Amino acid sequence: MSNPRFAAIVLAAGEGTRMNSARPKVLHELAGRPMIRHVIEAVRPLDPAATIVVLGPGMDAVAQAVAPAATAVQHPPRGTGDAVKSARAALAPAVAAEASIRDVLVLFGDTPLLRPETLAHLLAERRRAPEAAVVAAGMRPADPSPYGRLVLAADGDLDRIVEARDASPEERAIGLCNGGIMAIDAARLFDLVDRIGNDNAKREYYLTDIVEIARAQGLRCRVAELPADELIGINTRVELAAAEAIFQDRLRRAAMEAGATLVSPETVFFSADTRLGRDVVIEPYVFFGSGVSIANDVLIRSFTHMERATISAGAIVGPFARLRPGAVLDENVHVGNFVEVKETRLRAGVKANHLSYLGDSDIGAGSNIGAGTITCNYDGFNKWRTTIGAGAFIGSNTALVAPVSVGAGAIVAAGSTVTADVPPDALTIARAPQVDKPDRAPAIRERLRALKEQLRRKSS
Ligand code: UD1
Ligand code: MG
Repeated sequence: MSNPRFAAIVLAAGEGTRMNSARPKVLHELAGRPMIRHVIEAVRPLDPAATIVVLGPGMDAVAQAVAPAATAVQHPPRGTGDAVKSARAALAPAVAAEASIRDVLVLFGDTPLLRPETLAHLLAERRRAPEAAVVAAGMRPADPSPYGRLVLAADGDLDRIVEARDASPEERAIGLCNGGIMAIDAARLFDLVDRIGNDNAKREYYLTDIVEIARAQGLRCRVAELPADELIGINTRVELAAAEAIFQDRLRRAAMEAGATLVSPETVFFSADTRLGRDVVIEPYVFFGSGVSIANDVLIRSFTHMERATISAGAIVGPFARLRPGAVLDENVHVGNFVEVKETRLRAGVKANHLSYLGDSDIGAGSNIGAGTITCNYDGFNKWRTTIGAGAFIGSNTALVAPVSVGAGAIVAAGSTVTADVPPDALTIARAPQVDKPDRAPAIRERLRALKEQLRRKSS
């Protein structure tokens, strides 16, 4: 028999009204990634046979964000039990194709902090002999008030789950809460959910009711106690910020454990997909947007902002650098303060240390980009490219009016406005020539003094 597999159902049809947002709740981001993608990424290492995401009507943007996961639409949302039911048709092909699917993991799209190893533990608990039909995630949060409570039987099995608003005072005193997610015997899942009624305070079909239903059929139900801080659900922007803080803390620890030095970790913000090599040093106050990849031995100095940038070994970036999408820094490049780089490759050893805008460009190895160099890449209609050959020297305050190229080894004089291609090894001076008028300065000062005197007399 092949290895037993599982399928995942991610519930995300809830409206998320408390976010006060035009966007579906599960698309709000944590570490630069929609929260529902974190859920998908947490299941992925466990190799689910299928992942079905349950959405509300009109949530096409969510469907796109979770692709290639299949989606099902629940309309109207009538509770978590009803949501699982609506995944039936989408799940059927996977079950038909893979008879070895033994469990279904029900997850929530708004609970993004779960780790793969925690989900693996939940699955293992379901399969542990004697096998349980349902395993609920238990947790002991600091404030249990809003959560469902897990009522245990005398033998320690799970007897039933009662929602806070349906609970008696004795039940509300229970500290063991329902984390919401569950692992369920795939062979029994839909039979169990079909039996759920809505005789409760919210007139909803509660997934949690399957515990009582299973027990009534003589099946076992258990609790797997999981870390409460991984089961945090996000309903408001305040909770979103709290979850972000937890997630950032994890990313910082992971970065340090993998060999990066964070001088002041709490001031560095990572994206979930940030990649760092060994012996990268990150000074205080640095922001990583999504898609940043950094090789070994790179120094990122304070107040640097990066997104979709690739940085090779030995580079030094910042302080106060801005690397925008498409910035590629090859080995040993130096990018200094107030330099903005976009869709530009700086080849090995390029130095651009001060006050520049380098956009839509390719800059040859070893070139020196003087302070204040600007690639004028936009004419109001189109973006144009600038190419600079290897070993070129661009003097300070040069405007390179694209499309334009500077040949290898050329020197462009400071203050030039370059509008035509510069040949290799040329010295190019593209500025108004300097005019010197000998001894004229004292005469000008004398004339100004006389004018002032005239004005003073007139007004007195
Ligand atoms: C649920 C549990 C509760 C548990 C808590 C943990 C039930 C009945 N209750 O309550 O015991 O303590 O989670 O956070 O399961 N959803 C749908 N369709 C629906 C309703 C909900 O897809 O019709 C989705 C939501 O988008 C959300 C998830 O299911 O991702 C959970 O729904 P939510 O309304 O937050 O459940 P809680 O009331 O928090
Ligand atoms: Mg909730």
